[in-house]
Amino acid sequence: MHNTRTIKEDIIWVGATDRTVRLFENLFPLDHGMSYNSYVILDEKTALMDTVDSSVSEVYLENVAHALNGRNLDYLILHHMEPDHCANIQAIVRRYPEVMLVGNKTTFKFLEQFYDIQVQENYHLIKDKDTLTLGKRTLQFMLQPNVHWPEVMFSYDSEDGVLFSADAFGSFSPLDGNMFTDELDFEHRIADQSRRYYVNILGKFGANVLRALKKIGDLPVKMILPLHGPVYRSEEHIQYITNRYQQWGNYEAEEKSVLILFGSMYGNTGNAADKLASLLAEKGVKNIRLYDISNTDISQMVSDMWVYSNIVFASPNYNGDLMYKMDFIIREAIRMNLQKRKISFLSNATWGGTALKTMQAYFDNPKNFEIVGEPVQISSSVKENNLPQLEELATAIVASMETIE
Ligand SMILES: Cc1cc2nc3c(=O)[nH]c(=O)nc-3n(C[C@H](O)[C@H](O)[C@H](O)COP(=O)(O)O)c2cc1C
Ligand SMILES: [Fe+2]
Ligand SMILES: [Fe+2]
Repeated sequence: MHNTRTIKEDIIWVGATDRTVRLFENLFPLDHGMSYNSYVILDEKTALMDTVDSSVSEVYLENVAHALNGRNLDYLILHHMEPDHCANIQAIVRRYPEVMLVGNKTTFKFLEQFYDIQVQENYHLIKDKDTLTLGKRTLQFMLQPNVHWPEVMFSYDSEDGVLFSADAFGSFSPLDGNMFTDELDFEHRIADQSRRYYVNILGKFGANVLRALKKIGDLPVKMILPLHGPVYRSEEHIQYITNRYQQWGNYEAEEKSVLILFGSMYGNTGNAADKLASLLAEKGVKNIRLYDISNTDISQMVSDMWVYSNIVFASPNYNGDLMYKMDFIIREAIRMNLQKRKISFLSNATWGGTALKTMQAYFDNPKNFEIVGEPVQISSSVKENNLPQLEELATAIVASMETIE
């Protein structure tokens, strides 16, 4: 059975939610599934904005036919050539053989790489700033390379101030009937999932995100239609999410507080991390986060790195070097261009190794990181003689936060 929602009288959501998928991109844990958005515009000409993942093809194709209500499809606009939005291009072309595929040079290159499809006569090639008139609506295209793939583009309809933003402004979220962020408990259901989505999917591309914000900066955006998660139409939420994107794209921390990530095989390094957290709390630090890296998904840990001004990495030595999960997490954070953070270390050795040195080397970049306090070094378990060191580190962390505007 088709299942569509009207966004505006002539813009119809034809997407779907996959509630069986546990890992988006086979990598990122999902709580209750993932939505794949696609929209039909009914004007003098008809247009379909992107397609959806193969997991929801059946209902999707019914939705498109239902929304078109017997009309032919004139354009399929390809904002992003990743398979979660492209898996149904061939099916659409088969059903609507005269449809023109609208994309840029890279769009069509990727289309031919992914699929055995020979439809060059259907290509409608566009460049940055080109427009396409559908009738009363005219779409203006904005190429947004590497937000997060090279072929990504947005389109903007000035008739109603509607922005089709590809993966930008998406969230790891199902759609449960309600289509708009203002129909949901945004703070509890969407805000964190939009951040986790941003950091993991777009986080590495902060400079390109800022460029994208600049490109849309002068436009009166009244509605943002992303390819995942709910649609933004309230001024308050549009302001909120664009401000957040500005902050995240700049790698500015959201909070003056501390994220502590510890690894521990037998609990002693965890004990040291707990003790440090208590000392910080006693000194007035609010909203501290403490994660055991073995029991927390990396997508959550990196997401929190975009929140906190200060991060403490606490790791045992393991086979002479850094515990490999800690190594992986730090490398991933640096690969994602994390910067502007205050970093502290705690290490644990029973006989010795280079765990601390390895961590220090990763953050040896004063342009991006400020090292705070002396590293605390534990021998197997926390003893009375470690307390002054932990106290000093807590004091240094609190002092470092006072310098943040
Ligand atoms: C497989 C394995 C390898 C280890 N390798 C080292 C090492 O190379 N150097 C070292 O000082 N301690 C090593 N340790 C000991 C850890 O550092 C030890 O777990 C720690 O001192 C106690 O902290 P924890 O309770 O947080 O695990 C190793 C432990 C395990 C289980
Ligand atoms: Fe994508
Ligand atoms: Fe996507």
